[in-house]
Amino acid sequence: MIPIRSAEEIELLRVSNLLVSKTLAEVAKWIRPGVTTLELDKKAEEFIRDHGAVPAFLGYNGYPNTLCTSVNSAVVHGIPSKYELKEGDIVSIDCGVLLNNYYGDSAYTFMVGEVTDAVKKLLQVTKESLFKGIEQAVEGKRTGDIGYAIQSYCESHGYSVVREMIGHGIGTKLHEPPEVPNYGRRGNGPLLKKGMVICIEPMINMGEKNIYIESDGWTVKTRDNKPSAHFELAVAVDKGKADLLSTFEYIEEVLKK
Ligand code: MF3
Ligand code: CO
Repeated sequence: MIPIRSAEEIELLRVSNLLVSKTLAEVAKWIRPGVTTLELDKKAEEFIRDHGAVPAFLGYNGYPNTLCTSVNSAVVHGIPSKYELKEGDIVSIDCGVLLNNYYGDSAYTFMVGEVTDAVKKLLQVTKESLFKGIEQAVEGKRTGDIGYAIQSYCESHGYSVVREMIGHGIGTKLHEPPEVPNYGRRGNGPLLKKGMVICIEPMINMGEKNIYIESDGWTVKTRDNKPSAHFELAVAVDKGKADLLSTFEYIEEVLKK
């Protein structure tokens, strides 16, 4: 069963998800050549705890950190380490929190210094595809409409959609029904109703769609070693227009400076 959240629950989910947005903006301030992904993880954990919340990924299925930091050909679930980001890298920062019993979960792929035009385009199209998906998160549509919108947009730009990891419902658990694939057919999948809360998170590869899991047991990488991008927002399904519970505005305010 897919939970239907009351207006009060949606406001609690908004607080949790906006805290993730603010955490990602805090992390954004530190992203530069030479910073380690573990330093970013420390900043995020401190910020989350200072705001009375708990990192949601830490300990989830044994995951060891607050953030997932996935560099270049890492798709998702990269473990923070002593790796120093360098000019030209991209890094997906994925963050989750638990606050007042409700979860927040959001991700953004950052450029480190200057990156190639091809990589810039991958990030732009992946982010745009997320908003194409969000346009479909309205009462009466189905999860397949979201997947179709993301897949058709990304494939029209020559990119491929990762199949093994998908978006999800979010609420009093980090992952709840429904499953929200980034591929699909229009009119397929569970019917969306007002009050359902979902995370949409396209994971889009510049090359082939195939992935493998590294020997650390977590890091998902592209088979062809080409770059991959990942953006995630939480939305409440509503009539006519989705209600965004998280935002990239705080992040992009930092990136402008
Ligand atoms: N944002 C990720 C997702 O929705 C959560 C990372 S799972 C963890 O799949 F195990 F790394 F925490
Ligand atoms: Co997620």
